[in-house]
Amino acid sequence: MFETLTRLRDAVRDRRITDLFAKDPDRAARFTLQTGDMRLDCSKTQLDDEIRAALVALCDASDLAGRRAAMFSGQAINETEGRAVLHTALRNLDGGPVTVEGRDVMPGVLDTLDRMRRFSDGLREGRIAGAGGPITDVVNIGIGGSDLGPAMAVLALAPWHDGPRCHFVSNVDGAHIADTLRGLDPTRTLVIVASKTFTTIETMTNARTARAWMSEGGGDPARQFAALSTAQDKTGAFGIPADHVFGFDDWVGGRYSMWGPIGLSLMIAVGPRAFDAFLRGGQAMDTHFQAAEWHENMPVMLALVGIWHHQVCGYPTRAVLPYDQRLLRLPAYFQQLEMESNGKRVAMDGHTLEIVSGPVVWGEPGTNGQHAFYQLIHQGTTPVPCEFMLAAEGHEPDLAHHHRLLVANCLAQSEALMRGRSLDEARKKLRGAFQGDELERQARHRVFPGNRPSTTLVYPKLTPFVLGQIIALYEHRVFVEGVILGINSYDQWGVELGKELATSLGPVVDGERDASDKDGSTAALVDYVLRNRG
Ligand code: F6P
Repeated sequence: MFETLTRLRDAVRDRRITDLFAKDPDRAARFTLQTGDMRLDCSKTQLDDEIRAALVALCDASDLAGRRAAMFSGQAINETEGRAVLHTALRNLDGGPVTVEGRDVMPGVLDTLDRMRRFSDGLREGRIAGAGGPITDVVNIGIGGSDLGPAMAVLALAPWHDGPRCHFVSNVDGAHIADTLRGLDPTRTLVIVASKTFTTIETMTNARTARAWMSEGGGDPARQFAALSTAQDKTGAFGIPADHVFGFDDWVGGRYSMWGPIGLSLMIAVGPRAFDAFLRGGQAMDTHFQAAEWHENMPVMLALVGIWHHQVCGYPTRAVLPYDQRLLRLPAYFQQLEMESNGKRVAMDGHTLEIVSGPVVWGEPGTNGQHAFYQLIHQGTTPVPCEFMLAAEGHEPDLAHHHRLLVANCLAQSEALMRGRSLDEARKKLRGAFQGDELERQARHRVFPGNRPSTTLVYPKLTPFVLGQIIALYEHRVFVEGVILGINSYDQWGVELGKELATSLGPVVDGERDASDKDGSTAALVDYVLRNRG
């Protein structure tokens, strides 16, 4: 499937992206995609008509249309776990029925959403209160997909945050919960235990610690705890009353779950109306993904550009660079979304993959990253494809000059990455300051190779709707990449071995069992810890 692309890659190895612009005045328009008010500019890459056509051919070769239909219609495309993949049903506000094994899941989805709305409104209006009065603080205890989505989104939608303060505890490191609970009133705090399985050791340990803190501080866990889970037998056993439990089904994957009950903390923070707008943004991207031609389809083209850079060109990582401070946690969210979904070595059919799987995804908001790691992006030896994100407008009208600077910086970075600076240009800049050999030496340090690819996603303003679009865009991008690579993007067996070994190491670290069955390194590290703790 990849031979044509490999040939095209070799043919364009020395081609300058700037020359593509010089030859084609319409290039920016021809390689920019649009859905609603959102645009994805893919023109600052090596894509040309031939490469795009070869990439698009991967969609038909992998039966993307068939797989997409299978996902949206509730077939068990998560084959290793025998589950449907239907996070899209959680945002199917105006859609028709969605059936899983002959049963329409939409009445249940909409009913739970209604219960979430009533619970959120009750808390926000003080009708649902703690032992000491109206709830002032919400602590979401969860990890991975039960933490990263709402934590990212509460920060992203800060201008809409008019509900109680929200805090997120994920790490089993006691520092996390201790630092979070310090200063909170146990009689006016709501603790949400967010866990699809309700067995995750970090979450259950933190939940028990929070429950003890609340009881000891005069709070009432029977009133001030809620649970978000598929395991309603376990939430009851933990002591959480049924009317504070918001359930979902196993066809919602952890890292795809913020659209439903796992998003409760977000709904409490911003209110049901803004949460609905977030869902509608996701739904709008679903509609686009299902309807647009491959070459005009934003998730599809984002996936194909990713495949071009990673699987074809061999660039090992990609950076997500939102020029939007409130998207601070978005790179971490995408790390789980992309790396837990497509970081696999075995294809759906059980055979070892013949092609590399998903890339390392990393990033930070601009402009901070510029003063940290952009040095490597501009002059390091390994190209890092960059995915810039930028709002036309900020939320601080009094600080519009800040936003203009932000925009200028974002656009300057993608321009600089593409253009670079030649040795001649560097020499010219330095003439006068240096001469002879020293001029030559200094100039070489100031050369930027350029020709470094990037995409830029632009949107009018970071609203709940736009956030929904962005998250669904990346979800579908991951799906498309998975289909083309032949991967099941919806399991995560790679996290299991570490969990098992941590369980077996528990008694060793507790000093109840020796480490003689462990390798020399692990045994020596255990020995160090046992000798050096108080
Ligand atoms: O260990 C990985 C994982 O299963 C993630 O996929 C998931 O998002 C996270 O743990 C939390 O799981 P749970 O919601 O069941 O506590």
